[in-house]
Amino acid sequence: MTQSTYHEPVLAAEIIAFLVRKPGIYVDGTLGGGGHSLAILRALSAAGYLEGSLLIGIDQDDAALKEAGEKLKEFEAVTVLVKGNFQGIGGIVQRVSREKGLQPKVMGILLDLGVSSFQIDTAERGFSYLREGPLDMRMDMSAVVSAADIINSYDEKELARLFYRYGEEPRSRSIARAIVAYRLKNGSISGTEELAGIIRGNAAGKDKIIKTLSRVFQALRIEVNAELDVLRSALDDGIECLDNQGRMAVISYHSLEDRIVKTVFAEKARSDWGPKGVGLREPLERGTVSLITRKPLCATQEEIDSNPRARSAKLRVIEKISKGVSL
Ligand SMILES: C[S@@+](CC[C@H](N)C(=O)[O-])C[C@H]1O[C@@H](n2cnc3c(N)ncnc32)[C@H](O)[C@@H]1O
Repeated sequence: MTQSTYHEPVLAAEIIAFLVRKPGIYVDGTLGGGGHSLAILRALSAAGYLEGSLLIGIDQDDAALKEAGEKLKEFEAVTVLVKGNFQGIGGIVQRVSREKGLQPKVMGILLDLGVSSFQIDTAERGFSYLREGPLDMRMDMSAVVSAADIINSYDEKELARLFYRYGEEPRSRSIARAIVAYRLKNGSISGTEELAGIIRGNAAGKDKIIKTLSRVFQALRIEVNAELDVLRSALDDGIECLDNQGRMAVISYHSLEDRIVKTVFAEKARSDWGPKGVGLREPLERGTVSLITRKPLCATQEEIDSNPRARSAKLRVIEKISKGVSL
């Protein structure tokens, strides 16, 4: 499969400009089809940094690892691909560095969140309300809980809370009620089209149907893959394994993700000046990162025109600063 059919990487030029600055360990925590990884490796090669560099690519989806493995073949001597959740980024970096005899200090980390175009477009994965398939939505096919398990086991209150919390869906309660009523009448719900039909019957108006479908499917996907929980810990863990002046770049695609990234980055950048009014000359504790992007960076109109997925992308970047270094 070619890069553009599997997944077109978003904000690739910006990622290169922010991350690739010297040889070292680079981690792509969301390998996907390997589009960003390939761009990073090519940039390292063009700058003469390939020697002394290692790219660790992580994905929880076997199909992504297979695709990326083929795409990155020319760089296989400096690439290690790992099946895993980026939540465990620290442990993965430790293990791979040890195996390669390297210090576990990372120059650049990329997280390009969410699902790939390939995952969305593959009907059997059940991510899309536009394609008839099983209600699955697991990025990691060895995970135990699928979207069908959630839709068929949560009670009305739990479903409503889920659609509201992760989908910000205003009609969360009536959709949850309709799902439970459908279950009582028909047994269980097993397909994307079946669920989409129930949602369509409960959306506020024709013009709102697409938005409601997107929000409910998004909420389910986030729950199935515990996306927001793993993001929080991956940011903490990732920053921990950055080298001094190493950078982390995160591309998010919806406000819930971006809020977490923004909050964690701001917390890590903040120095502790003690209680108000004390007037310390030096902070009690300095922040461990500096914000490279104060506001999130978005794609240009030109990129959005050629890759509509870039429309909602927001990129935030931080740089690690060693303790004791003046801000
Ligand atoms: C938006 S795609 C990345 C596309 C990639 N940047 C490229 O250029 O092809 C996100 C990928 O991250 C993976 N992913 C999402 N959350 C993950 C997690 N917590 N741990 C590991 N992989 C994850 C998905 O399986 C998917 O393949």
